[in-house]
Amino acid sequence: MSSGALFDYGDSLRSIGMVLVAPPHRRRGLARAVMDRCLSMAGRRPTMLIATAMGEPLYVDLGFAEVGRVARMASDSAAAGERLPSISTADVHAVLELDRMACGADRSALLRSLLARAAASAVVRRASGAIRAFGIALRQRDQLVVAPLIAPNTSDAVTLFLSLAGRCAGPVRLDVPTRQEAFLSALAALGLTQGPSAPIMLLGAGSLPGRREQIYAIASRGFG
Ligand SMILES: CC(C)(COP(=O)(O)OP(=O)(O)OC[C@H]1O[C@@H](n2cnc3c(N)ncnc32)[C@H](O)[C@@H]1OP(=O)(O)O)[C@@H](O)C(=O)NCCC(=O)NCCS
Repeated sequence: MSSGALFDYGDSLRSIGMVLVAPPHRRRGLARAVMDRCLSMAGRRPTMLIATAMGEPLYVDLGFAEVGRVARMASDSAAAGERLPSISTADVHAVLELDRMACGADRSALLRSLLARAAASAVVRRASGAIRAFGIALRQRDQLVVAPLIAPNTSDAVTLFLSLAGRCAGPVRLDVPTRQEAFLSALAALGLTQGPSAPIMLLGAGSLPGRREQIYAIASRGFG
């Protein structure tokens, strides 16, 4: 009848997702009760979520503020690029560390679960061999979903996207923070179209932790 999930990314961040109330039971306070329960479990730690238009009024009422937006980019097919090496078992620690720096939070459990069911993954290395950027792609029904993409610059993000999109034929999509204007333009030039954006909302802090400028595609609207 109703659901909501709290994802624990350590002391610096928690995320709420999967808030859903079955249509016959809406407007009776169920989502508010789910949110109250999640927030009491989160304590005073910063808590983020990505809102739908239906959920936003409740989150504003609870004190959440918009700190950014994500836009969905999609295409029926995408051009292929250079085939980059995949994330190997030996790379996992470095990948988790890059993600931790970008998100300012420990998402190891989420990343390990995404890697376990990845359709494809890719890394960009420095001359020293150290990993400086990575991306993961999942297959969801007939679509390839690129999630996440963590990179130090737009050029690496585009290279990663093209490598991942080229691995699997067919439709592709990703959710891109709207602050990544150059990356959004590059994706548009590759033929992806931009859908409506959704607010990233935060409670308990003025801004999200981490080097958010390194996030080119988020892991999931549900997980943050
Ligand atoms: C968003 C959703 C979870 C709200 O569930 P709900 O149980 O109906 O919400 P509540 O009854 O607890 O309402 C809490 C408050 O949210 C706001 N609200 C809820 N539904 C609203 C609507 N359709 N229009 C405007 N405000 C709404 C109101 O402020 C409401 O308080 P009020 O009833 O005292 O005015 C539900 O509509 C839903 O499942 N939608 C589809 C999935 C979705 O978008 N989930 C949100 C993911 S971020």
